[in-house]
Amino acid sequence: MTSTATRAVGVDIGGTGIKGALVDVATGELLSERVKVATPRGAEPDDVLAAVVSVLETLQVADTDIPLGVAFPAIVKEGRTLSAANVSQTWIGFEAEAFFERGLGRDIHFANDADVAGVAELRYGAARDQSGLVIMTTLGTGIGSAILYRGELIPNAELGHLHRARHKRDAEAWAAYSAKEREQLSWKKWARRLQWYYSHLEFLFSPDLFVVGGGVSKHADQFLPLLELDTPIVPAVHRNNAGIIGAAALSAG
Ligand code: BGC
Repeated sequence: MTSTATRAVGVDIGGTGIKGALVDVATGELLSERVKVATPRGAEPDDVLAAVVSVLETLQVADTDIPLGVAFPAIVKEGRTLSAANVSQTWIGFEAEAFFERGLGRDIHFANDADVAGVAELRYGAARDQSGLVIMTTLGTGIGSAILYRGELIPNAELGHLHRARHKRDAEAWAAYSAKEREQLSWKKWARRLQWYYSHLEFLFSPDLFVVGGGVSKHADQFLPLLELDTPIVPAVHRNNAGIIGAAALSAG
């Protein structure tokens, strides 16, 4: 890790895809193509590591000392993954950072995927000039969340796992983008679920801004205008690249 790096690599491991790119950490712009491979079925550690290696090889950065940030879809504390909603249960209580560092033969910066996406929006995107409370959510296979208060990240918020009263499933099983796809919901029907979710977050946190990321944020005009909230809600400036950019940025200091 060096604080003088101007370029860094970000790899964003998701429940469905593993994405990576070289990033200009001064501007948050991608300096390479965005490489994506499917998350291996079952998402076991060795298979995920092999997929990360293939992303780094395609980017031609496998044998460089460019700082590398890796984002993962689980609670991450002191390098250990403590949960596993959309990956193998092996990751629970797993020394994931050390595992990747050994396997990749280099130091990495390792953090939760939604947290790094939040950092990207804080540094280079929609949350940049916000002085109050920003809640970033990523709508994908799961629902990720990052709490950003006065420019600081409060890590490991798991707001995708809120429960709805009288409802067996948690919020992400019911309202993530994967639920829309799985149940073939129209934008309107899906937006009704999001309405409950964001109203609930609004009631719990009184935020100043919601930022919505994840792959579906490129279609934000299809569903954000359907929501009725007191809090402004905007798509992530960096859409689904926010995880890559934030992971890279944090690795560069
Ligand atoms: C996980 C979070 C993650 C989110 C988005 C959730 O299921 O519990 O840690 O940020 O999915 O990937």
